Amino acid sequence: AGKEIQIAIDGPASAGKSTVAKLVAKHFNFIYCDTGAMYRTLTLKAMQEGVELTNEAGLVKLLSTTEIKFKPGKPDQKVFLDGKEVTTDIRQPDVTNNVSTVAAIGSVREELTNRQRQIADEGGIVMDGRDIGTTVLPNAQVKIFLVASVDERAKRRFADNDAKGIHTPLEVLKQEIETRDYKDSHREIAPLTQAEDAVKVDTTPMTIQEVVDEIIQITSNKIK
Ligand code: CDP
Ligand code: CDP
Repeated sequence: AGKEIQIAIDGPASAGKSTVAKLVAKHFNFIYCDTGAMYRTLTLKAMQEGVELTNEAGLVKLLSTTEIKFKPGKPDQKVFLDGKEVTTDIRQPDVTNNVSTVAAIGSVREELTNRQRQIADEGGIVMDGRDIGTTVLPNAQVKIFLVASVDERAKRRFADNDAKGIHTPLEVLKQEIETRDYKDSHREIAPLTQAEDAVKVDTTPMTIQEVVDEIIQITSNKIK
């Protein structure tokens, strides 16, 4: 990478990162890389194979034989674990509630960070996650830190779940989001934090299109 444009989008759970990242990538005809899906996929595999989620050596070994692939799909790209589609499996509540434990492990992060940088080497990219602007792509020309109130984020997740037939109460979702944000922000390695040169965008009162337009505007100003 270097001459290719990199757009890093970080922020807490359900701020709208993946939704807007996909649309921004489409606008510029860039690759979209969902790094959260990579942590989720490893978490799913560890749960399936009975590997303790705090067993660093076990997880590293598991990851060394784990293939995580993104393939174009409609409406969204699909995620494959060792050749099997896991796009919806990795969004199940049990994976969501365990992923921060796996994501706290340094050597897991090191390996997934390497894979994320390889994807970024393929061309113009929009990458979303927690540590993209701070760690994975520190030279990204555009860094966005998306936030929204926890009440708004819980409502968004509730609506998403509802559409998928998952009926976790709003209060429980709010608690789960707060717990996950706390873990992600307080881990020792590459915690969730706003990069010094990131632009903070509070999406609480904004529509998806407004957020997308703002990021496109910020990017266009940077690259002209
Ligand atoms: O979409 P949602 O906000 O639920 O989360 P995600 O982006 O799918 O990420 C799931 C989890 O993976 C996060 O809560 C983090 O624990 C971890 N993650 C991370 O540590 N670093 C990243 N770059 C992306 C995700
Ligand atoms: O990736 P992240 O966890 O940050 O959020 P997401 O999975 O994109 O989910 C955000 C949800 O909020 C989606 O259902 C969006 O349709 C909705 N939403 C949004 O992303 N941005 C807004 N400004 C308003 C709603």
